[in-house]
Amino acid sequence: MANMKQIAKLAGVSLGTVSHVLNGTAKVREPLRKRVLEAVQASGYQPSQLARGLRRDKTDIIAMIIPDIVNPFFPSVVRGAEDMAFADGYRLILCNTDNDHAKEIVQLQALRSYLPSGLIVIPSNFSDLTAQAKSYRENGAAVVCIDRLPPNWDGDTVTIDNVESACKATRFLIAQGHKSIATITGPQFLTNAQDRLTGFRQAMQEAGLMPASGHIQEATFDQAGGYSKTKILLRLLPRPTAIFAGNDMIAMGSLRAIREAGLRCPEDVSLIGFDGLELTEMITPQLTSIYQSPYQLGAAAARIVLDRMADRDCPTQHIVLETELKVRESVAPPMAPAAQRSKVTQTKQTKNDKLRSL
Ligand code: RIB
Repeated sequence: MANMKQIAKLAGVSLGTVSHVLNGTAKVREPLRKRVLEAVQASGYQPSQLARGLRRDKTDIIAMIIPDIVNPFFPSVVRGAEDMAFADGYRLILCNTDNDHAKEIVQLQALRSYLPSGLIVIPSNFSDLTAQAKSYRENGAAVVCIDRLPPNWDGDTVTIDNVESACKATRFLIAQGHKSIATITGPQFLTNAQDRLTGFRQAMQEAGLMPASGHIQEATFDQAGGYSKTKILLRLLPRPTAIFAGNDMIAMGSLRAIREAGLRCPEDVSLIGFDGLELTEMITPQLTSIYQSPYQLGAAAARIVLDRMADRDCPTQHIVLETELKVRESVAPPMAPAAQRSKVTQTKQTKNDKLRSL
């Protein structure tokens, strides 16, 4: 591949002129500029972004760290950030932490050496981001924290109102007539999971309801967490008539456990999720959920980085995105106790009939 020296030779100009044209470091007379650009085109020269980055102490890279690449919520966040970055000529590089703070520290330290213009982070459990972000900022990079916040974070943020959104979900279950409501929260060291639990408690309290013993379970934000905690909930007495899941992946695990227990959703147990993932429209029953836009979350974060590149001293931004209750099929009014009893009796009778006919 051609280098700058060869371009200079081809265009019949000095190396300095080529550098000024390509890096915009000084004004070059139009005929010379044209000759350089023609030589670049003819030779297929491609400037090294790394070399350019070293000269400027900054690359056109936005680094992004997410906790769980297999949860469909997070790729949509990345998509939003990538679209916004791409439109402004930036490239996004992505790392996954598996929600492990030790891995997150390794990623944060490694990414710094790429001299990114910005860093967007969805922190892992027990994240050390607040301390780590300092050196990024000292290098002139913008750091934006989204979705959940590490302790003592005072920088730019993009989040939703998790307390209010969880209230909305719980109030909906209460409005359907449910009183025996359980929740399966996300990990309680994550701020969004804490806030969703606060919202649940708040709505229950407003309605004069108390969660029964064992009706608050904590899980990882995934199907396995939802599955194992729902199995526990379904063995409890009173059995909850409705479950508020801390996210849609938890809800998907719950649904499996409900079915395996021989119960129906929503007739026997209503279920509401959080995130409103597209894939939960494809399942039966379609999941009722609190929708938030992962795409907007990522896009807004990248916009903040780009704004900061244009004006380093712009004021700290705290963007709070709207959420919406999407009513689908997984919530119904609770069955009257008599109906529940007759269903149990019917099931027993059917079993006895079958035995008799053997
Ligand atoms: O599904 C992923 C969940 O964890 C979302 O609810 C999001 O808020 C994240 O932190």
